[in-house]
Amino acid sequence: MGRMKWLIGASFVTVLGAWLIALYGCGGGGGPIRPLAQLPPREAVYVGSEECARCHRPQHGIWKQTFHARMIRPVNEPGVLMAPVLDRLAGLTVVFTMGSHFRQRFIFLEGGEYWVAKGQYLKATNDASSISPTKDKKWESCMPCHTIGYDPERTPPNKFAEISIGCEACHGPGSVHVASPSRTNIVNPAKLPPKLSSHLCGRCHNRYTSVAGVEGVKFFLPGMDLEQQMQAEGIQMAPGLWTDVEGSALPISIKHRQQFFDWKQSNHANANIGCLQCHFVHKAPEDGDPRPLEERREGMCLSCHDRFADPAKRQAHTHHAPPPNGPTCAHCHMPAVASSGTKLDYAKGTDWDIHSHTFQFIPPALTQRTLKSGAKEGDVVPNSCMAGGCHNPNALYQPRWALNNSDHLQEAQGIVEQWYPALKKAPVFVLHRGFRFFVPWNTPYSD
Ligand code: HEC
Ligand code: HEC
Ligand code: HEC
Ligand code: HEC
Ligand code: HEC
Ligand code: HEC
Ligand code: HEC
Repeated sequence: MGRMKWLIGASFVTVLGAWLIALYGCGGGGGPIRPLAQLPPREAVYVGSEECARCHRPQHGIWKQTFHARMIRPVNEPGVLMAPVLDRLAGLTVVFTMGSHFRQRFIFLEGGEYWVAKGQYLKATNDASSISPTKDKKWESCMPCHTIGYDPERTPPNKFAEISIGCEACHGPGSVHVASPSRTNIVNPAKLPPKLSSHLCGRCHNRYTSVAGVEGVKFFLPGMDLEQQMQAEGIQMAPGLWTDVEGSALPISIKHRQQFFDWKQSNHANANIGCLQCHFVHKAPEDGDPRPLEERREGMCLSCHDRFADPAKRQAHTHHAPPPNGPTCAHCHMPAVASSGTKLDYAKGTDWDIHSHTFQFIPPALTQRTLKSGAKEGDVVPNSCMAGGCHNPNALYQPRWALNNSDHLQEAQGIVEQWYPALKKAPVFVLHRGFRFFVPWNTPYSD
């Protein structure tokens, strides 16, 4: 548990630091003690990522390769369009595109306001048929999460300081730091406690009830407590969840950008393992995949769960061959269950694209609980065996069960219960008509 020891050490230092600050105070003689958790200076304003590049070339270079930097781009920039679909928007003044890998949406100017055009291009199915030259909603509703420095008071159309997820989304407004660079006037998320650095990511990687046409937290700075701010703004989390045949909500996300909601329910959150313990935003992508992740899947999980580095222990736990011929930790513990640009459709050869962050194994019996008569693949909750392209007809490894077949699900469930007897008793959170119950997942349905 090499890294875990370090983490426990770090949280001890944090606690010690907080204790020292409490003991000696901050307003005193300007000694060496600085608060480890900090907010940007009050008077700071946004300057834009290009300013930061002057002094932080390496970080800027890597950021440029990530999806964060590519989120919104001018539509006339070469190579930006995922498909030549602009003729479907003829007559509109299209200015920006949103999205670079799952799907793409289009922003146009009309009457001094930015608008999101109806429909989107879906990459997995190469489908642009939903796009039409009409208004969907004001682009303002997307700004809290897709731009920097969103300010509802600013005059339209530019109610933001910068498009995309620039440096200051995670480091806070930088004008004071740029004028006089120091470690005390810019936020370094690594110095925040894991809860607050996860709040910084969760500010965008989350779903909320919307207020006056804007979804997302309006006012947030890195270092702030997200949940306190949500309370202050009168908004709540409003996740999209799978439901079972009785209409009860299962604790499994169905919509994209719910990583924070998922993570909050997990034992990783309880153990202070936050987004930054698994995602390394300034490490160069190694496999050409511009996700801010160090090593996807195995190496990263094993850096803490190192008992599974022993092949015998791993085999005893997974009952499968090690990767690449068998499942990774993430296949079972982070199956793709939610949709951004695609969902499961065997005929089209598509699968879910967003991964569960509750880290819970999802048993085949949960799929059964959601099997309504006549359900199509995309209508039933995926389980860990089938999601991620393992046990389905387009399988990577030994196809055996088709998702929609109740007998095969039963068989799969039997095997899983033999391997993991504790699962039989494991309860699952079920949200039923607004109330939360613990219901064993294998409880048969009642009328
Ligand atoms: C004029 C040069 C300059 C510019 C422009 C600049 N920085 Fe810095 N930055 C520095 C220096 C120098 C340090 C290290 C200070 C030290 O060691 O005391 C630093 C440190 C940092 C740190 C580390 C803080 C810590 O606590 O470890 C971060 C994060 C950072 N800068 C982000 C930014 C961002 C974001 C921008 C753009 C808004 C930016 N910088 C613009 C010079 C600059
Ligand atoms: C998605 C959030 C995010 C964005 C966007 C982002 N950073 Fe960071 N940055 C972090 C985190 C988290 C850390 C601390 C962990 C690390 O170093 O990877 C960090 C650390 C840093 C540091 C300190 C490095 C050190 O060695 O201590 C600098 C400097 C920095 N970032 C500059 C930038 C600049 C410049 C940009 C824009 C070009 C940028 N960051 C964009 C999240 C972000
Ligand atoms: C200001 C909003 C914002 C903040 C803050 C933010 N993100 Fe993001 N993030 C986004 C958006 C929007 C995208 C989608 C970019 C795209 O697909 O083009 C994204 C994409 C990502 C992706 C890649 C998604 C994929 O499809 O592979 C990862 C991983 C990620 N963010 C992690 C983080 C982490 C970790 C943090 C905190 C350090 C963070 N983000 C902070 C808005 C944000
Ligand atoms: C609460 C924050 C938030 C709001 C509000 C929001 N988004 Fe996003 N969006 C994200 C995050 C985070 C991601 C990436 C992570 C994911 O998809 O799971 C994303 C992903 C996307 C993608 C996919 C990008 C790709 O590369 O495939 C598109 C397109 C998109 N958003 C468009 C919009 C539009 C249009 C609006 C407004 C109508 C909007 N979003 C509102 C946070 C938000
Ligand atoms: C225990 C490690 C771990 C933690 C904690 C974690 N992630 Fe992830 N995350 C991953 C892995 C691994 C993947 C890639 C899964 C895959 O592609 O198989 C991923 C994928 C993502 C993606 C890409 C879209 C998707 O869902 O596939 C986003 C965005 C993301 N994480 C955001 C976050 C945010 C925000 C947090 C904190 C609230 C967080 N993650 C916490 C391990 C983690
Ligand atoms: C930075 C350290 C760290 C990393 C990286 C990490 N974990 Fe964990 N994980 C923990 C800690 C600490 C716990 C809580 C104590 C325990 O159960 O061992 C935990 C718990 C778990 C649990 C038990 C959850 C429960 O509900 O009881 C699972 C499953 C898990 N991790 C899977 C993963 C997977 C899969 C990855 C890689 C995607 C991963 N972890 C990455 C530290 C980590
Ligand atoms: C074939 C699916 C599968 C794979 C692959 C898998 N797990 Fe698990 N894991 C499970 C199931 C099912 C449980 C729940 C067992 C229970 O409740 O008794 C579990 C439980 C856990 C737990 C909590 C209980 C414990 O033993 O501490 C941790 C931590 C964990 N897994 C980590 C990992 C890591 C790390 C990897 C990758 C090396 C991994 N798992 C690979 C299916 C899998």
